[in-house]
Amino acid sequence: MNTKDKVVVLDFGGQYSHLIVRRCRELGIYTELHPYDVPLKELKRGTQAEEGTGKIKGIILSGSPFSVHEPGSPKCSSEIVDLNVPILGICYGAQLIAYVKGGVVGEGKKSEFGRTELFFKDCALFDELTERGSEGGISSYRARGKAPPGLAGARAESVMGQSPTINVWMSHGDVIERLASADIIGYTMNSPVAAFRINGRIYGVQFHPEVHHTEKGEKILWNFLYKICGCERNWTIESFVRDKIEEIKSAVGADGRVICGLSGGIDSSTTALLVNKAIGVRLMCIFVDNGLLREGEKEAVINTFRNNFKMRLVFVDVKERFLERLRGVKDAEAKRMVIGELFINIFEEEAKKLGNVDFLAQGTIYPDRIESAGASSRNASRIKSHHNVAGLPEKLGLKLIEPIKDLYKDEVREVAKELGMPSQILNQHPFPGPGLAARIIGEVTEDKLRICREASHVVEEELKKSGWYGKVWQAFAMVGDDVATGVLGDARSLGRIVTIRVVESSEAMTADFVKLPYELLESMSKRITNEVKGVTWVTYAISSKPPATIEPC
Ligand code: XMP
Repeated sequence: MNTKDKVVVLDFGGQYSHLIVRRCRELGIYTELHPYDVPLKELKRGTQAEEGTGKIKGIILSGSPFSVHEPGSPKCSSEIVDLNVPILGICYGAQLIAYVKGGVVGEGKKSEFGRTELFFKDCALFDELTERGSEGGISSYRARGKAPPGLAGARAESVMGQSPTINVWMSHGDVIERLASADIIGYTMNSPVAAFRINGRIYGVQFHPEVHHTEKGEKILWNFLYKICGCERNWTIESFVRDKIEEIKSAVGADGRVICGLSGGIDSSTTALLVNKAIGVRLMCIFVDNGLLREGEKEAVINTFRNNFKMRLVFVDVKERFLERLRGVKDAEAKRMVIGELFINIFEEEAKKLGNVDFLAQGTIYPDRIESAGASSRNASRIKSHHNVAGLPEKLGLKLIEPIKDLYKDEVREVAKELGMPSQILNQHPFPGPGLAARIIGEVTEDKLRICREASHVVEEELKKSGWYGKVWQAFAMVGDDVATGVLGDARSLGRIVTIRVVESSEAMTADFVKLPYELLESMSKRITNEVKGVTWVTYAISSKPPATIEPC
């Protein structure tokens, strides 16, 4: 339970909900994402809490793909506006407040998408946004001394008067047409109520301040957090590390013992480092070599944690057991099941051997929790879930420690950097829980494993050499059972087909193949056919996600 005072973002399924949380955290305020239908009494309890005990200092209502008039559109309790806490509605969030407050939300004559000029009134939310130049949009009408067609009364006066303007990012079809109970603090050409304020406590903006394209969007959020909610800065990576170490120390006590399953990925590595800083040798890491690791991965993990960080680490070599259990298993999901179950069995055996353990440290991160709780949007797509040690804590009677459970991936990287994580782990591409098995189509055999590992290594090396590695999300080679004819020396021979996959992505929800230079693909292909025994053909995967996934299995 986090006892930091916070701002809560209610997620109505908008594409930028996570971004709002991240922006607020970047501005130094601890912020959480909650489903839109979180019980009102929970919010009430939070707003009434003492300062410094997890008090909710402000609530932000996110956007949504729905219209407030659509049957089944997501709606929080209308009493939310009566809670004694500042509220900021963004896009759909603003329309919802208008709807609850008796305003008129209509379909709008024109949708507004993209950069739009907003003219605004001085108020706490728009404090210290300076006026920009006068080219284009409303400013051009002002320069010509002529009101835009269709605008009359106060709006026309405002346009033609001295109201300052900024460019904001819009993405909406519905429009707030009227909101009698509010003070209108912003207009655009198509939105008569592009920003409003009610009692100096409730604000709504039709645009997206969380998106970088909104000029001064960060300052608008800053104004809401610091000026309107009265938040105090409580979220920096250094303070997170300091507080977390103290928290782990006090949770584990003077002689508690902890185990941690270390995969070498950024999440479990960061978790292990944090726990190690807190309790030193009372942490034992368990590193399982299931035979599905990347080239050089085993050595890198052992070297980093045992030799560099001087941490205690049990190395379990169970390659044979995994291969044995995977024999004859062709179906992708069946392979995942086998690997997940065996991993848990092995982990359990090792934990029992160690005996006298009280806690299990796990590298769960914030998006994992939100997704598995089904918490936020009903539209959120799910990535394949990591085979982790779910269920183990109860089985072994262990208490769970999840020190990075409130962090996003980029925040995990910052923590890892702060803790001195070597760049090889810090900057590596994500790697799936089932390891190379996710890249072997059909049965996992020793031969296919070798080909996949060696060919992937070539792909990574070539990308690193050419400066592409850090620019792409994931890159690897995959192999199946297909063979094709090649010429080796003077003889024709059959060999495997290897497919290279290099994708760019943001958080793996969608992905595009990377348009690598032909010369680079050519050198990868040459090296793979020359250096990896048994390969005659190399192809490049050019499918996007969707409909394909990133991993073939
Ligand atoms: P897909 O293949 O579903 O993968 O497009 C999306 C992202 O998730 C990774 N992935 C996994 N990660 N355990 C993991 O920890 C898994 O079982 C798993 N399957 C896929 C994949 O590498 C990509 O980054």
